[in-house]
Amino acid sequence: MKAISIRPDVYWVGAIDWAVRDFHGYVTPNGTTYNNYLVVDDHITLFDTVKYDFARTTIKNIMEIVDPSKIENIVINHIENDHVTSINNIMSLTPDATIYITEKGRKGLERFYDISSWKIKTVKTGDTLNIGKRNLMFIETPMLHWPDSMMTYIKEEKILISQDGFGQHFASASRFDDEFIECASLQELEDAVIDYYANILMPFGNIIKNKLAEMQKMGIEIEVIAPDHGIIWRKDPGKILNMYMDMANGAADLRVAIIYDTMWHSTEIMTRPIMRGMRDEGVDCKIIKLRATPMSVAIKEFWKARATLIGTPTLNNKMYPSVAEFLHHVAGLRPKNRITGAFGSYGWGGGAVKETYGMLKEMKLEVFEPGVEALYRPSSEDEKKCYEFGRNFANRVKEYHKQFNP
Ligand code: FEO
Repeated sequence: MKAISIRPDVYWVGAIDWAVRDFHGYVTPNGTTYNNYLVVDDHITLFDTVKYDFARTTIKNIMEIVDPSKIENIVINHIENDHVTSINNIMSLTPDATIYITEKGRKGLERFYDISSWKIKTVKTGDTLNIGKRNLMFIETPMLHWPDSMMTYIKEEKILISQDGFGQHFASASRFDDEFIECASLQELEDAVIDYYANILMPFGNIIKNKLAEMQKMGIEIEVIAPDHGIIWRKDPGKILNMYMDMANGAADLRVAIIYDTMWHSTEIMTRPIMRGMRDEGVDCKIIKLRATPMSVAIKEFWKARATLIGTPTLNNKMYPSVAEFLHHVAGLRPKNRITGAFGSYGWGGGAVKETYGMLKEMKLEVFEPGVEALYRPSSEDEKKCYEFGRNFANRVKEYHKQFNP
């Protein structure tokens, strides 16, 4: 795709990765984009680069606008590989350019490249750079989502170049929210936002809230949010800001995700009466089998629902390995404001449900106890117990949910 004008002399010069389906372990069914931006002012400035596979694409896009040797400033907002691994290609075309980066970014960059001959200026929150008619302001955003991360605000344009924040893994022929909504559904876009937040930004909700409040205090008015992935928010940046605030505040649907795995279908059989019990109490639920579902999809479903039940058979006195893997991912994402419970089948001594509750408590999630267990094959009596467990859990979930929707 060619360079695209966002405003006069402000361009998207990035790349669309239609084919990527595994983004460092997360499934990306819709591909992704690597967005970077070029501002043609008295001092031509490039914001971020792209993943190494797409170096030629961004250079070609830049060449449609300017000779790359004329780039004087390069802002590196974030040094993760998908944004910085073509910086060497760019620097070879404009070796006298000055890189603007945080101190932590500089330290990271020298682990990737020999930067001894590069001009580098480290910046911190509030530092500014005049590039002609426009002024840039740098805003450090540590742990959103790497220690080096920052955003850059183009004051006169009221454009926030937000690196990974507000992004989505979504390859699309459209570059802007208003175009996207015409080409595809708003629901798809929202789902991509939630997917990204759940898998990458879930641990950082409080940092997000504080950073947005800080920007407000700094008097930053935003007309356009230009992230490093997915579509650019130019028609309704308030929409994505509100979505982020809601998610950071623990927003979730009044719904239960039953996330389970099974060896010989016994734990799977238990999911059905549990689901019926919940439905009879008016609580929606979704059943997700782990070995049939990519991990990042299961994480997204966990995040969307107010409540989760973990179903696991016992294997060698432990929870089933795929369930352990899932809970390991969830623990790393440090979820909050969710209620959980567990159930499962066993053949000999049991142990998986107890171990699962232990992990849920370690995560400091609200738990509903006791869980329900069945020996070998769920009997009709066990199915009745599962149904009652589903009903009771649903009622507890409704109560718990009220605090978020008073
Ligand atoms: Fe899109 Fe944190 O890299």
